[in-house]
Amino acid sequence: MKTRAAVVYEPGKRIEIEELDLDGPREGEVLIRYTHAGLCHSDIHVAHGDLEARLPMVLGHEGAGIIEEVGPGVTRVAPGDHVVCSFIPNCGVCRYCATGRQSICDMGATILEGYLPGERFPITGPRGQYGAMCMIGTFSQYGVISQTSAIKVDDDLPLDKAVLVGCGVPTGWGSAVNTANVAPGDTVAVYGVGGIGINAVQGARYAGAKNVIAIDPLENKREKAMELGATHAFATAAEAQEAITEMTRGQGADSAILTVGLMDAEVVTAGFNAVGKGGVVVLTGLNKVMAPTIQLPGTILTLFRKSVKGSLFGDCNPTVDIPKILGLYQSGDLKLDEIITRTYTLDEVNEGYDDLLAGKNVRGVVVHEH
Ligand SMILES: NC(=O)c1ccc[n+]([C@@H]2O[C@H](COP(=O)([O-])OP(=O)(O)OC[C@H]3O[C@@H](n4cnc5c(N)ncnc54)[C@H](O)[C@@H]3O)[C@@H](O)[C@H]2O)c1
Ligand SMILES: [Zn+2]
Ligand SMILES: [Zn+2]
Repeated sequence: MKTRAAVVYEPGKRIEIEELDLDGPREGEVLIRYTHAGLCHSDIHVAHGDLEARLPMVLGHEGAGIIEEVGPGVTRVAPGDHVVCSFIPNCGVCRYCATGRQSICDMGATILEGYLPGERFPITGPRGQYGAMCMIGTFSQYGVISQTSAIKVDDDLPLDKAVLVGCGVPTGWGSAVNTANVAPGDTVAVYGVGGIGINAVQGARYAGAKNVIAIDPLENKREKAMELGATHAFATAAEAQEAITEMTRGQGADSAILTVGLMDAEVVTAGFNAVGKGGVVVLTGLNKVMAPTIQLPGTILTLFRKSVKGSLFGDCNPTVDIPKILGLYQSGDLKLDEIITRTYTLDEVNEGYDDLLAGKNVRGVVVHEH
């Protein structure tokens, strides 16, 4: 069948919309009709070449849709099921999945190659075989994906909101709740309020943090953070540092969660300085794979027993945490509607990313047309 999709051919070039060919689902695979796709900064890292992916690649790794057809051996979902995709597949049996660490499932090894297990490329077109971002490629009307990337959700959930739980929400929420392990009474600083950071704010607040300090140079972001659980908001790390020192009587924050669009040593150092003894610095934002974004005085890390941790998909287990987080949306404890700034058609995907880079959106969402 045919599918219209947003493709990156060359780093630094505009994303192109193209009609491509899609093969049917084989063993363990499903055909999904994507209804919605979120605009996350990580796709821009691929388009800009920060994350070196195999090209051409159909972008998009935050997606929701409806299962149309399943291949042989598929047990996790059935035709008609509403699903949210996880940007990391989970096999369920590798040593990481088996020990409750699905976000580092061995199947994640090829998310930037974009093929399905067995170097299988269901998408082909004028330039040969096309990979799919994170093995899902949600900026496409249809996709053929592994059943390990699809999580069944309640039929009555609005997919236009639930889509955010494919990346931004669990990544941000889990960065606070799981990786920083925020506890009641904590002081938590969140650097960068995009689709990821706003959910770190929501997660920290829900976990019981007393002070949630949001740092973002943009006024609209700070306002949204204050609306959704931050207790303080600052434009610069320096202002935040002063306030944190004061509000903790010099003890420093318990955790700093770094969710800026492009991670650098300056923000890592700011987070490191903001946390006190025993404090945790969580690196969620990305940069070029080998860029040295951490330049810290190790002796202070030791003497103050600080730690610096990476967080992937918020250290969530998609099979459990996607439905769990959606349950919190249903109960009103987590806000999704309020964090979607604008919707776009697939043809407007470049405009959507221009808006993201200009800081206009907390989250933008592509609404697919069929
Ligand atoms: N680790 C993971 O699993 C994972 C998953 C998804 C996204 N990411 C990464 O997380 C980062 C955030 O993604 P997003 O979609 O929320 O991006 P975004 O562009 O929507 O938001 C980033 C925000 O950071 C702010 N910012 C930039 N520099 C800053 C600074 N020095 N101090 C404070 N704020 C600053 C921007 O104004 C913006 O509001 C990206 O690097 C993305 O690739 C990581
Ligand atoms: Zn993402
Ligand atoms: Zn696994």
